[in-house]
Amino acid sequence: MKTALLNVTSRRKPADLFVIGSFEKDRLPKEIHSLESEFARTFQKVASMDHFSGKVGESFALFHDSNHEASEVVILGLGAKKDYATLGLRKVVGQVSKLAKARKAKTVRILLDSFCHGDVKPATAAGTFGEIWLLAAYEFNRYKSPDPNAKKNGKEDTLEFLTLKKQNSAALEKSVKDGLSVARGIMLTRDLINEPANVMTPNALAARAKKLALEKKFICKVIGPAELKKLKMGGILGVGSGSINPPALIVLEYGQRYKSKGTFCVVGKGVTFDTGGISIKPAKDMDKMKYDMSGAAAVIGIMGVISDLKIPVHVVGLAPTAENNVSEDPQRPGDIVHMHNGKTVEVLNTDAEGRLILADALSYAAKFKPKAIIDMATLTGLVVYTFGDKAIGLMTNDEKFAARVKKAGEQTGERCWELPMWDDYREMIKGNHADLNNIGGPHGGTITAAKFLQEFVPEKTPWVHLDIAGTAWCDVPRYDCPKGATGVGVRLVTKLLSDWK
Ligand code: BES
Ligand code: ZN
Ligand code: ZN
Repeated sequence: MKTALLNVTSRRKPADLFVIGSFEKDRLPKEIHSLESEFARTFQKVASMDHFSGKVGESFALFHDSNHEASEVVILGLGAKKDYATLGLRKVVGQVSKLAKARKAKTVRILLDSFCHGDVKPATAAGTFGEIWLLAAYEFNRYKSPDPNAKKNGKEDTLEFLTLKKQNSAALEKSVKDGLSVARGIMLTRDLINEPANVMTPNALAARAKKLALEKKFICKVIGPAELKKLKMGGILGVGSGSINPPALIVLEYGQRYKSKGTFCVVGKGVTFDTGGISIKPAKDMDKMKYDMSGAAAVIGIMGVISDLKIPVHVVGLAPTAENNVSEDPQRPGDIVHMHNGKTVEVLNTDAEGRLILADALSYAAKFKPKAIIDMATLTGLVVYTFGDKAIGLMTNDEKFAARVKKAGEQTGERCWELPMWDDYREMIKGNHADLNNIGGPHGGTITAAKFLQEFVPEKTPWVHLDIAGTAWCDVPRYDCPKGATGVGVRLVTKLLSDWK
């Protein structure tokens, strides 16, 4: 995708589509009057006809051959000024990106000033346009026969930002570039998740991580079964024993030169398919369980983005990956496994496998003496019942760190809601024949899963656990995402790390 910044005095060819934002009450952005007089008159007419009130979701299209800017002009409702924020803009951009796609518009000119208000500065607005433009056009269609009538996918579009004000063009350019990088990271994450489990095995996931590391010049090490045994990672090995596709621990490392300022660990669940194992899942919707590696896919996407953005933080990404299946010699309910940190676990339910592989990765993180750890996992069905797809379940051992994660969540639209971590819940996972059970009974399952993980977090290390089971997949297409993987976590953690000091 190409982008350009145009000043109102720049000479310019007509675009395919010209886009203007308009707030409720204001109706017409005053900037219109600095454009062609004919243009301004037409808009004046629209306003006086009361066809358009500026509410969110509203749009008004005009066609006029003699318009200088474009033969088609679209005015988009931005709602009330007092409610306007980046999140609202994101939705509007998703709407216009879809419209441009339907019209096959290749060059889209945006009256940048008309989308700016309050915290939405020109650079933020331009960055959001870039990011959402790509995301809204995302499709996963590599397994479909090519459609000769297929519409373009947004990648070849040119976005022109027209402004009447003097802008800091370097800041604007950087913001657009960063927005595009974030979108590419999210799309990579979506691709990894949307791939079927017969393709995206643990080894295939590791190979994709290696490829990206090579491209972006960060470190990638894959720990296979032999070394996992030496490291006594009974959690990862036990889950992996249910499949002919061997498990692995993917270790990614970026920004070693910033090590002196402390290390940040990002851990993600990488179950490439979750049948439930011997404690097998019901058939309904089981196909969706290819998304059980969404946490690991987000870790890989995040590493790609932060290396593009060159953020000054040392980050270690850990993605334990396994297929939870049934084989000749799978893990059985009642099996006891020895974990990397020396604790023993009785596997009462082989479907509670995510916590087993994450536990080994979390204790392995101690090696890097991290300042903070964040993990992302499609860990429990119960979090889907609680929040649907509207919030990530957040659990923590450190309120200060959690506050920063929640703030990044609000800013990026990947909202997190905290659940309590009282020690009463710890009682529920106390072991019968081992130190711990891997399930805590039918109730409070999202929290007991987090309490289990906490047993493996290195001592005195601030840690946030994000249960993304409800948010990593969208069943109903969204303004910036078709049905399938959302890539949740990438935007949130990238924001958190970009603001890290
Ligand atoms: N991958 C699932 C979590 C999940 C379930 C996500 C349904 C989305 C929809 C996880 O491995 C799992 O199976 N968890 C069990 C835990 C239970 C056995 C204690 C669950 O939530 O049912
Ligand atoms: Zn499971
Ligand atoms: Zn699972």
